[in-house]
Amino acid sequence: MNTYARLPVSFVRGQGSRLWDAAGREYLDATAGVAVAGLGHAHPAVAEVLAEQAHLLVHTSNLWGIEWQARLGERLARLSGLERAFFCNSGCEANEAAIKLARLHGHRQGIERPLIVVMQGAFHGRTLATLSASDSPKAQAGFGPLVEGFVRVPFGDAGAVRALARQQPGIVAVLLEPVQGESGVRLPPPGYLRQLRDVCDEEGWLLMLDEVQTGLGRTGHWFAFQPSGIRPDVMTLAKALGNGVPIGACLAGARASQLFGPGQHGSTFGGNPLACRTACTVLDTIEGASLPRRAAELGLRLLHQLDAGLAGHHDVLDIRGSGLLVGIELAWPCGHLVQRALHEEALLINVTRDTTVRLLPPLTSSIDDIDRTAEAVVRLVRTSQARQVA
Ligand SMILES: Cc1ncc(COP(=O)(O)O)c(C=O)c1O
Repeated sequence: MNTYARLPVSFVRGQGSRLWDAAGREYLDATAGVAVAGLGHAHPAVAEVLAEQAHLLVHTSNLWGIEWQARLGERLARLSGLERAFFCNSGCEANEAAIKLARLHGHRQGIERPLIVVMQGAFHGRTLATLSASDSPKAQAGFGPLVEGFVRVPFGDAGAVRALARQQPGIVAVLLEPVQGESGVRLPPPGYLRQLRDVCDEEGWLLMLDEVQTGLGRTGHWFAFQPSGIRPDVMTLAKALGNGVPIGACLAGARASQLFGPGQHGSTFGGNPLACRTACTVLDTIEGASLPRRAAELGLRLLHQLDAGLAGHHDVLDIRGSGLLVGIELAWPCGHLVQRALHEEALLINVTRDTTVRLLPPLTSSIDDIDRTAEAVVRLVRTSQARQVA
């Protein structure tokens, strides 16, 4: 169906941060399939484990035990400190599970119409509940009535959440992205997550982090919440977990991990042996190559080069990032830069919320890849002007 505004190019092969089209033209990928191919394309360890497991067993059912699902759950618990996992196939499904957990948490306390605090600028997916939790009038248009049970506050303003606690009965949870990816790489002020953790503890709410985009090394840590010193009650993952093999996870700590009982949630494909074993290999590879640290180092290098190349440019409003999640906010809509990058620079970039160039290179990128990306983006911005938008 006509759901995507696609660019006129398709790729037949990939390796690391490189892609090739059918004519053999080589491209540098600074999107990693929108934060999915953290290990780069066609990573040999992923390819090998996929082939091996495909020959052994792809799918049984959650009616039976699944050894690789249990192993993956244990690995993620050790990494995150969150003891239990529910496995699904995508980010929106992981968030659906989180939303259902929050509602159960409310109903267990006798709250019949539980409310979840969500953020301005949020993006949590496109199923009806996650679309309703998202703050995108464009994506929501035509799909009403939206799912009720969400109350929205400005992102980065812990005071607004605290004020809501005094005014609004029925709140059971706060759901947010630690860094907002889809709405232009927006970072909250320091101390924000700690303040939200405190409000949630005082009020008995669940703190639920959507790390679908930020998780698994992307921001220079295994999870973006870690530098804040807090731990969420619920965290969702997807995108990079299977390096392209569809898998999502909703992890929960002590306050939320016992809420679901048998029959209250499920997924036919979720947690199958193929996806879970692949995800275990992805985690091994991230760990073995210290990719979170690498993302932090490469991200700093990318930011410095963009700063150096674009400092003082009157059309550049801000350059910001966290690890290898980097945004360049321009004074004008810059969707046309994606096409120019493709044709003139053989570079894949992405634009969010019309005015922000978003870069999400693979965590395995070389220094040379990062330098090339920065140089190309600087060239593109410097040779572009608002009048080219049309
Ligand atoms: C923060 C966040 N949450 C959820 C989603 C939805 O994930 P999916 O497209 O796998 O459903 C995305 C996708 O971009 C995302 O960035």
